[in-house]
Amino acid sequence: MSCDVYIAGGAHTRFGAHVQRDRETGVRTDTHPVQQMFAEVVAGALADANVEAGQADGIFVGSCSPGAFIQQELLAPLALQSESGLRFASLSQSTAACASGSVALFAAADAIQAGRAQVALVIGIEKMNLLDTPAVSDILARCSYWPEEGGQGMTFPGLFAQLGDNYRLQHGIGAARYREMLAAVSAANYRNGIHNPLAHFGPGSIPDKKKLLSTQAILELPAEKNPVIAPPLHLHDCSPISDGAAALVLVAKPGQARKGRNEVMIAGRHTATEFLPIAARPKNYTLEGAQYAAAAACREAGISVADLDLAEVHDCFTSNQLLCVEALGLSDQGCAGEDYLAGAYGESSKCKVNLSGGLKSKGHPVGATGVSMHYFAWRQLAGDAVGVAHPRNPEHAAVLNLGGSGVVNCASVLRAVR
Ligand code: COA
Repeated sequence: MSCDVYIAGGAHTRFGAHVQRDRETGVRTDTHPVQQMFAEVVAGALADANVEAGQADGIFVGSCSPGAFIQQELLAPLALQSESGLRFASLSQSTAACASGSVALFAAADAIQAGRAQVALVIGIEKMNLLDTPAVSDILARCSYWPEEGGQGMTFPGLFAQLGDNYRLQHGIGAARYREMLAAVSAANYRNGIHNPLAHFGPGSIPDKKKLLSTQAILELPAEKNPVIAPPLHLHDCSPISDGAAALVLVAKPGQARKGRNEVMIAGRHTATEFLPIAARPKNYTLEGAQYAAAAACREAGISVADLDLAEVHDCFTSNQLLCVEALGLSDQGCAGEDYLAGAYGESSKCKVNLSGGLKSKGHPVGATGVSMHYFAWRQLAGDAVGVAHPRNPEHAAVLNLGGSGVVNCASVLRAVR
């Protein structure tokens, strides 16, 4: 590699349903339009990195389906409306389902390593809540293999339910035990998320008020409070439909971290593409693409999984969090669920998972998610954590962000340089 890439600053809106719904008519009014989210994170990230807009060589935006969600397909130039100094910077807009944000971030890092940019502004953004759940599900389903999946009525909860069932059967896990495993994952994410002021299910939200913070509390919910969405997945196994944006400033040179923060570099990264239809994969019960990407990112960073102090993984559904910790090599194949039930990745573990609350609790504005995951991992390593902080000066963090049903597998390793 020609040079390293450092994270110099960032900004993050609160994730949530940023609309007001008229109870009688059902009409939704936008309370946090995309232009405003852009303005907040663009100005915020540049100020945080102490960089003038005119110094940015490129704008890299990740968004999944802005044309379908808000009728604004070309989004990236909106960055100029809040910071005119960005005029004439180069532009790249990535769409790769729920990995759009990481794909944009990796493109920015490539530009820096190629020497074509010294300063790159990365933005992940999605506005989903102007539409109702069936319309959102339909748009998301277009990120599946349409002829065999979306076009046959398959939704994303359905696809990840299928992956989860394949996994359960492959490893001979009983249905009741599997439900406990998923509830343990959900509770673990809520326990972290309720301390994250930027989370969809943050302080004061339902999981906080109703104390959905243990496996038992989730399992004891009456059926109407935790309905089946796509068996075996229940409501509290699903990430919510969220709006939000996150931005990071990447730079070629160290020494630009704000006073009091550690320098953080992107030490390794890899994107591995998997067959789009689940049915086409040799092993339909595990994330082979994610395993490949994670191993390649660790190799590039020169670390092993045992060196990881924390990981932000793609728990769009709790079933997928089990697959992700196994893909990273944190749990052995087929063992992640029992590990969670035994308290793994919590207080006594070296490696913490989803300190941000993960997608389940933090929220999942799909195109923003990859940048958001990197934002929270970076803040942990910088020694300036949002919400629950890793207690022991973490040095290495992994991010595993997936697009589609494990199709676009983006893994990275961040390193604190002290
Ligand atoms: N987890 C926990 N609670 C949730 C929730 C979730 N994912 N989604 C909604 N809720 C809560 C709401 O806050 C609301 O609570 P309230 O009645 O106390 O106000 C209640 O459930 C009903 O909300 P509503 O928006 O009507 O839910 P819904 O049934 O329309 O949608 C899901 C629920 C799970 C179907 C929807 O969140 C979903 O589709 N999630 C997955 C999104 C997705 O596929 N993303 C891409 C992944 S790859």
